[in-house]
Amino acid sequence: MQGVFPSLEIIVLAAGQGRRMASTLPKVLHTLAGRPLLAHVLDTAATLAPRAIHVVYGHGGDRVREAFPDAGVDWVLQPSQKGTGDAVRCALPHMDDQSLALVLLGDVPLLKPDTLKALCERAAHGAALLTFETSHDNQYGRIVRDAQGRVVRIVEWRDATPEERLIREVNSGVLAAPVARLRHWIPRLTSANAQGELYLTDVIALAAADGVAVATASPAYAAEVEGVNSRVDLAFLERAYQDERAQALMVSGAQLMDPRRIDVRGILATGRDVLIDVNCVFEGRVEIGDNVRIGPHCVIRDSRIASGARIEAHSVIDGAEVGMDCVVGPFARLRPGTVLDASARVGNFVEVKASKVGANSKINHLSYVGDASIGAGVNIGAGVITCNYDGARKHRTVIGDGAFIGSDTQLVAPVQVGAGATVGAGTTLTKDAPAGELTISRVAQKTVNGWRRPEK
Ligand code: UD1
Ligand code: CA
Repeated sequence: MQGVFPSLEIIVLAAGQGRRMASTLPKVLHTLAGRPLLAHVLDTAATLAPRAIHVVYGHGGDRVREAFPDAGVDWVLQPSQKGTGDAVRCALPHMDDQSLALVLLGDVPLLKPDTLKALCERAAHGAALLTFETSHDNQYGRIVRDAQGRVVRIVEWRDATPEERLIREVNSGVLAAPVARLRHWIPRLTSANAQGELYLTDVIALAAADGVAVATASPAYAAEVEGVNSRVDLAFLERAYQDERAQALMVSGAQLMDPRRIDVRGILATGRDVLIDVNCVFEGRVEIGDNVRIGPHCVIRDSRIASGARIEAHSVIDGAEVGMDCVVGPFARLRPGTVLDASARVGNFVEVKASKVGANSKINHLSYVGDASIGAGVNIGAGVITCNYDGARKHRTVIGDGAFIGSDTQLVAPVQVGAGATVGAGTTLTKDAPAGELTISRVAQKTVNGWRRPEK
């Protein structure tokens, strides 16, 4: 891919403050689809299998490094942000003269590996720029070509004349050039420009002056090379990204009630004939089996939902496994460690945490079930609570197959209910309930004859 070069090295420029974000957070830590901008760039960089990835950091540097403890990259400090040329200067001592350098920007998150491969191939005999055609209404650097169509320089928008600002071909900021050439050009950059910075883009004029050919390549679609300079840009790219995710989901067999109203912040794998209603958010790694229906306004994170299950509106599912043909919600909350076996039901205003619910069991209304092991065919009445926490420790509740727990029961853990047991409504269960028997703790009902309600 790096053509005549024995190796590829990638420089990611991520030292800028991102003043236009109006934020205390370094720009590259702002998130797109739930992950920092820089994470997207590093993922793409890694797919090219480079010899090294040099990340130039500076502004808010410690926070940037701390956000990527296991990135396996070479962190290069740019002590003060004197421009993109200065940033590359900082990385050069870490690089091999035989390598092709690919410069990526930490604030351009949607680049595709194929686009970069094509760019690197074009750099085989000189330098290569990733450019694209755009409307006039933006501040990208303009690509200036001579009468023969050869690239002669890049003019930054702030330095450009009104005529130059009309040029439609603009600089994505991504370029590929031999390290040996950059070592030669970078020390010759000057800051005689509108921003008083060392512009990396000025190496193109130096290349042209040295008679080095400057090739160009273009991305398959424009959003790939759009940079994030403001929160408006970030929101725009988020939509572009989500739009692409939505298209891919539909191609793979999911029906989205409105492809503009879904957010995938992670990896979502869907089976056939999955139906997803509006305004659902998927985070982390979510797997959804065939014929699953997901109602509107659900949030699903790091979970697996087996085929035929139905998730009704406004349910929140986190770190759970939902078995085949289960029905969850509306307004249910499954917290981490929840496992529902096939055809279990968890209804409205029910919270389940770190619990297993056996096949065909029902917890249909207003319950809290935590640290419990519930067998198959169990019926949990409305308002049942597992009292799993004594203020210091968590304790388990175990309920056998076919048990019936009456409404408004408190199960004070640790406690066990045997198979087929019945627990009467309103019971506060502090001791185990034997299998097959009725257990009840309830003050005997009495009627006070002749009692009068006080009058005003
Ligand atoms: C840059 C390009 C411009 C291009 C645009 C595309 C230059 C001079 N201009 O402009 O031609 O159209 O990107 O998005 O290169 N950075 C550092 N250290 C610095 C300055 C910047 O690491 O001292 C990093 C920033 O964190 C950012 C990237 O370089 O990731 C680009 O910097 P930015 O200031 O956003 O450049 P633009 O004005 O957008
Ligand atoms: Ca930028």
